[in-house]
Amino acid sequence: MRVGVLTGGGDCPGLNAVIRAIVRTGTSVHGCQFVGFRDGWRGPLEMDTQPLDVQAVRGILPRGGTILGSSRTNPLADSAARDGKSGLERVRENLASAAVDALIAIGGEDTLGVANRLHQAGVKIVGVPKTIDNDLGATDYTFGFDTAVNIAMEAIDRLHTTAESHHRALIVEVMGRNAGWIALHAGMAGGANVILIPEHPFDIDEVCDYVQQRFETRYAPIVVVAEGAHPKAVSATVAETKLDAFGHTRLGGVGQLLAAEIERRTGKEARATVLGHIQRGGTPTAFDRVLATRFGIGAIRAVADGDFGTMVALRGTDIVRVPIVDAIEELKLVPTERYAEAEVFFG
Ligand code: F6P
Repeated sequence: MRVGVLTGGGDCPGLNAVIRAIVRTGTSVHGCQFVGFRDGWRGPLEMDTQPLDVQAVRGILPRGGTILGSSRTNPLADSAARDGKSGLERVRENLASAAVDALIAIGGEDTLGVANRLHQAGVKIVGVPKTIDNDLGATDYTFGFDTAVNIAMEAIDRLHTTAESHHRALIVEVMGRNAGWIALHAGMAGGANVILIPEHPFDIDEVCDYVQQRFETRYAPIVVVAEGAHPKAVSATVAETKLDAFGHTRLGGVGQLLAAEIERRTGKEARATVLGHIQRGGTPTAFDRVLATRFGIGAIRAVADGDFGTMVALRGTDIVRVPIVDAIEELKLVPTERYAEAEVFFG
């Protein structure tokens, strides 16, 4: 069997561990051969491939990023059509001419949305969930999340000491478009004094009260804010209004806005730090390496079993298979009671 592999959407630590596990298990256990498609769906759309064998995956387990490259190219977008053929048709034809029997697509809800459409169109496809935001409803955890949380936690630890030295409020903006899991976990682990997430629109007066309270106990406050968090009456802060191929704006800037508002209302100095892509770069944690490896083994097993249209997922401690469509139907948001656990430590 000849299996194609691609990684789509924002990269995240652990992608290479998945690719390595697929290729090594597929080669030694299932007798498969592989071809890599470059830059997500752009690869099969434009027939851009790269060799993918055991030699190609040697040494990549601890490496961040993806050896296959990634992009937000969307074969379902109008712009993907060419020569009277839709993007989907072009992908199907190119997979056939590359003699690909099955495809493993590693990605988040957008990449898996395309995978689901291809599955409906008869392509043999298996999905692997990926997002550092950890917001896919079908799986308990996605790899990359633990790494991002640890990076953000370390940043918060460091910010505590400099904030105290200068009697400043420091605002840390972390990733999290729809869900505040990174902010919640990093904030709880780092002892943040306020955590703001997209699921719970905030009240700026309340935030300033917590900031004041914290200053009164001598220590300088740390506010962790997810990029998608917003005040009650306002929508999320957008850094770039142009939509990507999947219809998303680029978020960013809420940290700066908060710092300015806190400074104006409390009279205390406030500064913002934006962690940005630092959260996505570099080596994965042990948890993410193991989860990614188990996802890779599970995905190639599903291919070998002919169980197409499925996606691997973590349920408890087990790797299970679920329909790909499950990954795109429901986002996993932070429940109110989980946020309430963090709120106990505010101020
Ligand atoms: O979707 C995952 C994510 O990490 C979001 O939290 C964030 O909005 C987005 O990726 C940013 O990705 P990029 O900068 O690559 O567009």
